[in-house]
Formats: sequence, structure tokens, C-alpha cells
Amino acid sequence: MKNIEIVSGDITKLDVDIIVNAANESLLGGAGVDGAIHQAAGPELLEECKSIGGCPTGEVRLTEAYNIEIGGIIHAVGPKWGGGQNGESELLESCYFGALELALENGFKSIAFPNISTGVYGYPKIEAAITATSAVKSFDDLSKFEKVIFCCFDEENFKIYQSIL
Ligand code: APR
Repeated sequence: MKNIEIVSGDITKLDVDIIVNAANESLLGGAGVDGAIHQAAGPELLEECKSIGGCPTGEVRLTEAYNIEIGGIIHAVGPKWGGGQNGESELLESCYFGALELALENGFKSIAFPNISTGVYGYPKIEAAITATSAVKSFDDLSKFEKVIFCCFDEENFKIYQSIL
């Protein structure tokens, strides 16, 4: 798939239409990539997130990007790893499908994902990468995107994605 890319680095610095945040159900910010995105976007992002009033696990919500000069931010709430028997892979998959659908609905043509759930939420990196890449590759309207980027912040994820794609 020529429009799928793997990059290493800080998702807030990427030149794409929209970036995906690995958020929690409150949407009120946190550590990890959530913290980095809120830091870069500024306090108005938190105000908009407060007005949304939360997001269930497996779902996504769109906000403005404020001080990050891109088209918007899609907040995805990935599953906390609970051993793999609690529908974690389906919930993680729905974050990717939901973000891709929401991006297209809003006319965005390039999107970057962090490695959702693989940090604080403890999802094993290899399993998460397999679920994430197969979700993106199986998305019916993938060809409508100019670029879908997997943004890996840590070396381990970067190597895993390179070995899968
Ligand atoms: N750019 C890209 N990726 C990043 C960045 C960044 N600036 N900072 C961290 N990451 C990566 C982590 O290395 C990890 O691979 O994002 C991935 C997801 O990890 P977390 O940010 O911890 O997210 P997650 O595991 O989904 O847990 C979500 O953590 O930060 C809180 O509020 C968040 O409660 C929520 C939980």
C-alpha cells in the first residue's frame, strides 16, 4: 500500500491534515501522547474537550487543533489491556476504523496515528501493531487517503511496524 507510511517521532510535529490522539474516556488530557497533544494545542483544546463530555472506549471524537497548525485532532479512546479476552482487539480496531471514517467525512486526506493503547494502557505492542495495520489495510476507502501514517515514538514500535508493513 503506497499511501501507508511509518515515521518515527513526535506526532504533533507532522505535516498532515489530522492527527489522532490516544485519549481516555474523560477526554480531559493525560500523560503520553495525550499530554503532548494538549501541550502543543494549548488550553482551548481542553475547553472544547470539556464541551464534548467524554467518549466511550473504542469510539472517536473530532476537535479543532488550535495551536497545532493542522485541520483537526481525532481523539480515539483505546482499550486498556486486560489480558486479551475482553474484546480488546475489536475495541482497538474500532478506534482505527472510526478515525479513518471520521477523517474522510470531514474531507481530511492525510492522517497520522500514534500507537494507540501501547503505552499507559499496556496493550502488547506486537498485537496492537498487527491489529492496527490490518484494520488500516482492510479499510474499504483507504485509497481515498493520500497518506496514512503510523507515527512511532519509541524504537520498539518503529521496528515492529517496519517488520509488519
Ligand atoms: N508522539 C507520538 N507518539 C507518542 C508521543 C508523541 N509526542 N508521546 C507518546 N507517544 C506514544 C507512546 O510511546 C506510545 O507508543 O504513544 C503511544 C501511546 O501511549 P500513551 O500515550 O500512553 O497512550 P495509551 O497507551 O493509549 O494510554 C492512554 O494515557 O496519556 C494517558 O490520557 C491518556 O489515559 C490515557 C492513557
